Amino acid sequence: AGITIHGRTAQQGYSKNADWSLVKQAVRETREAGYAHVPIIGNGDILTHYEARRRMHETGVDSVMVGRGALTKPWIFKEFEDDATWTPDAKERVAVYRTLAGYMKDHFGDDAMGRRKSWNFLPWHFEFLSRYRPYPEDEFGAQSLEQPLIQNRNVVSDDLDPLEAVLANRCSDAHDAIASILWESDSDQDAATKLTEFAESPAFKDILETGRMNSGEDKVLVNLPKGTPGKWEKRRGRNPGPKRTDEEIAQIRAERADKKARILAEGGVWPPN
Ligand SMILES: Cc1cc2nc3c(=O)[nH]c(=O)nc-3n(C[C@H](O)[C@H](O)[C@H](O)COP(=O)(O)O)c2cc1C
Repeated sequence: AGITIHGRTAQQGYSKNADWSLVKQAVRETREAGYAHVPIIGNGDILTHYEARRRMHETGVDSVMVGRGALTKPWIFKEFEDDATWTPDAKERVAVYRTLAGYMKDHFGDDAMGRRKSWNFLPWHFEFLSRYRPYPEDEFGAQSLEQPLIQNRNVVSDDLDPLEAVLANRCSDAHDAIASILWESDSDQDAATKLTEFAESPAFKDILETGRMNSGEDKVLVNLPKGTPGKWEKRRGRNPGPKRTDEEIAQIRAERADKKARILAEGGVWPPN
């Protein structure tokens, strides 16, 4: 048996850094109480092998657990094993993502039913995979001492190459399109080619425009039921949901403003990752 400890309450969500001093205290008190044989696993905000190494060293935990870091970088465990950062380029990442799609085909079936089941996971996973940014230790090691790198707000520059721009896009329409291409392509090269074509298509330009209109503070409103379905929704025959009224949207904005003020006053990060 072992104990996993996360230095933050569920209510705090991801708005504040996990408090690893509490994890350290738990390790010390457990050891002092004579339970040194019980492994303790620390958890919270780990995105790189060097943050994992430091947390283990500083707190005395036997191991660490990663959540969002593993969803963002499925190869993170290899980085732990090698104690080295892997900075795959866009094509190498496409190969990893296609492997994931392949695992889903193996598990759920390479047919219409398998695809429907996989769609509960594959487009959703891009909410995390799209957050990937390279953080080699020699460039980011010092910064990670100030603030966990998972809290970084890296603005995506406009001059990314087309494939990188698609993979970094945070809109669910883009994630759906990427998942379709990964599912349907015959090889990693085929997937990279089709994703690049998608990057240069009017459909992706539409998504970029919508994302810009709904960026930043209003990001939550992107997830509101849309009045008209996007191209990819039309293709999948999904019906548009009901529209929220202006009053409802104003209320959501007011609630968000309150929450933002409260979290910032408590020294937290806004918006939470
Ligand atoms: C997609 C997702 C699902 C989660 N589901 C649960 C859950 O069912 N129960 C739970 O206690 N924590 C859940 N968590 C919280 C994680 O276990 C973890 O404590 C948290 O994400 C902080 O670790 P991280 O900074 O490495 O992400 C979930 C996290 C994510 C990202």
